[in-house]
Amino acid sequence: MARHLITSAIPYINGIKHLGNLVGSQLPADLYARYLRGRGHEVLFLCATDEHGTPAELAAAKAGKPVDQYCAEMWKVQDALGQGFRLSFDHFGRSSSPQNHRLTQHFAGKLHEAGLIEEVTEKQVYSNADGRFLPDRYIEGTCPNCGYDKARGDQCENCTKQLDPTDLIEPRSAISGSTDLEVRETKHLYLRQSQMRDRLNAWIDAKTDWPILTTSIARKWLNDGDGLQDRGITRDLDWGIPVKRGDEDWPGMEGKVFYVWFDAPIEYIACAQEWQDAGKGENWERWWRTDKGAEDVRYTQFMGKDNVPFHTLSFPATILGSGEPWKLVDYIKSFNYLNYDGGQFSTSQGRGVFMDQALELLPADYWRWWLLSHAPESSDAEFTWENFQAGANKDLADVLGNFVSRVTKFCRSKFGEVVPEAGRQGPDETALIETLTTRIRAYESHMEAIEVRKSASELRAIWVAGNEYLQEAAPWATFKEDPERAAMQIRFALNLARLYAVLSRPFIPDAAATLLDALKTGDDSWPDDVAAALETLKPGHAFEVPQNLFVKITDENVEEWKSRFAGQRG
Ligand code: 2FM
Ligand code: ZN
Repeated sequence: MARHLITSAIPYINGIKHLGNLVGSQLPADLYARYLRGRGHEVLFLCATDEHGTPAELAAAKAGKPVDQYCAEMWKVQDALGQGFRLSFDHFGRSSSPQNHRLTQHFAGKLHEAGLIEEVTEKQVYSNADGRFLPDRYIEGTCPNCGYDKARGDQCENCTKQLDPTDLIEPRSAISGSTDLEVRETKHLYLRQSQMRDRLNAWIDAKTDWPILTTSIARKWLNDGDGLQDRGITRDLDWGIPVKRGDEDWPGMEGKVFYVWFDAPIEYIACAQEWQDAGKGENWERWWRTDKGAEDVRYTQFMGKDNVPFHTLSFPATILGSGEPWKLVDYIKSFNYLNYDGGQFSTSQGRGVFMDQALELLPADYWRWWLLSHAPESSDAEFTWENFQAGANKDLADVLGNFVSRVTKFCRSKFGEVVPEAGRQGPDETALIETLTTRIRAYESHMEAIEVRKSASELRAIWVAGNEYLQEAAPWATFKEDPERAAMQIRFALNLARLYAVLSRPFIPDAAATLLDALKTGDDSWPDDVAAALETLKPGHAFEVPQNLFVKITDENVEEWKSRFAGQRG
């Protein structure tokens, strides 16, 4: 048994996330956390809302609410949606928590002591029309790297390059659209991450098992010279964590706050403190401090590709630079983008399907299964309604749902709602046990390697193997000549249904729970020994036929949903 710390990139507070966001971090992180728990490992799975900076301020202004109130309300919304999708966080925190305030100020103090912070008087874009500085997302323009014309002042979401507002070509205010901008002087703190280039290079070089998507982005920005330039970690904003070094005020930095990307990853750590302070666990430092037990922890982070530079360069620079024994990430799983019907999912343009809307249409398992089995791992992926319908209907309804329904209903009609007793297994059952053993071991290796699509394919193949067995065994035909053999086949198949619930739970937790309930078993142990696992439900064990596990998505549903989601969200 090992200890696993898992974090998902913390979503911005600025609204409800779309399915592309979900499949890019929280959902695969949940899959992995559930799998590891199922295997008996100790897991701490953390996520939070990312509440500071310009995304929060802009969204609150749009909603006409004070930013703290807006954040508190949106946290509740995101928390409820996370629960709706069955995201099994041990804690869903907030980057605006007092714990994160203290820890962020603590890190700044340590970096200062280590000589890694420089005070810089710099030129910043000031908007005359808006009467304020325009940091980060308050300014938009054309990316100097790739020419994308909606690049934000902090990062180009098209090519992932981290930017400064002054880098943008033809800049404009995101508040008023005004181009009446000028450059004024203001003082800020810079993290001297360029000092850490060699350490970061050596650290990344050692990560030979990381996904290429992660290391290629990291190396690109590490080695192209300006990816690791010293970066401003403070901003002229009202909302955020006040700039201090530890408990002390920072002379000359009054009224300024830390940059959202400085405090957001620190929330991964603070979130563990929040988890403890909420009474959900204890000794949080044993997850995060290598001098307090965390040297045994394996730490895995999940994120979309645009987040990789911050997690491979800036956050490790903060941790290493502090000189304190904080846990560094062991594995970064990153994702490409999921597109929506020929274009991009877009929060700002309200394009695509959002988490709340998805749950209004169908239960979480349908979305979880389709999204995970189409996760954008090796390249971008595409959501279309037809593809969603085909995947959910075929895999969930035709294969898994149909298997369960046929076995349980046939048993009820011929033997009653109890596991039948007669008959002994023969060569067909032995052959299936062998096939399943090979496939389950493959499923485990894909899950351990966080190969999400491969895991889904293997699980699907495991379901298909059971269906094929049932088709060939044909207990409905066997029953006429050899009822004892039919009883054995059904007993075997009922046990297969239990096995499927256990194996499928990381993907489709609700259906798995329904199935285990219907089979009236609390035995959810992992099938280390497949033959033994298939004898868990003993003769005479009572069960109930479950309600239809999955209903099919009809062509009419698809037509209706397609037109409903064709435009922008209102
Ligand atoms: O891209 C985003 O949604 C960011 N809010 C992710 C932050 S992850 C972290 F560093 F905390
Ligand atoms: Zn770009």
